[in-house]
Amino acid sequence: MKLTDALLGEHAVLHDLFGHVRETAAKSGDIGEIRGAVAVLERLLLSHARTEETLLFCQLDSHLGQVGPLGVMRAEHRGIDDLLAAAGSATDIAALKATVNELLDLAQGHFQKEEGVLFGMAEQVLGEAALNELGDQWATARGVILAGAGPACAGSSEAG
Ligand SMILES: [Fe+2]
Ligand SMILES: [Fe+2]
Repeated sequence: MKLTDALLGEHAVLHDLFGHVRETAAKSGDIGEIRGAVAVLERLLLSHARTEETLLFCQLDSHLGQVGPLGVMRAEHRGIDDLLAAAGSATDIAALKATVNELLDLAQGHFQKEEGVLFGMAEQVLGEAALNELGDQWATARGVILAGAGPACAGSSEAG
């Protein structure tokens, strides 16, 4: 499986979580409940961004350079980090809600750029074989067993 397909799968789960956090921030009057939703988002979003930077962006540096689209993507990751930190330290519920909405707008716009532009560029410049190799590294890092790669599959085919 190509790394870009794996990252799109992570985006799909995060899109759902964005909706949940936006809805919680809009409806809840409980600062603890909103903070709890943001804490889950923070954990998954930081892990996703770290995975992108260590597996994909560093491979693209020599092709795309560190400015241009990659510079924008890295700057947006830092912007997301800053807004997560601001949400974590907000003590006023109105300020927290405003920060959460700003965070979600930035993250959703960022995902659209990756899905619409960056991942397509990655497929063009890296090619399928390299992306499949990076997909294997993604599976190892994420603890996912790819079909045909794990002993459970070999064992079940022998038993069958
Ligand atoms: Fe990203
Ligand atoms: Fe992403």
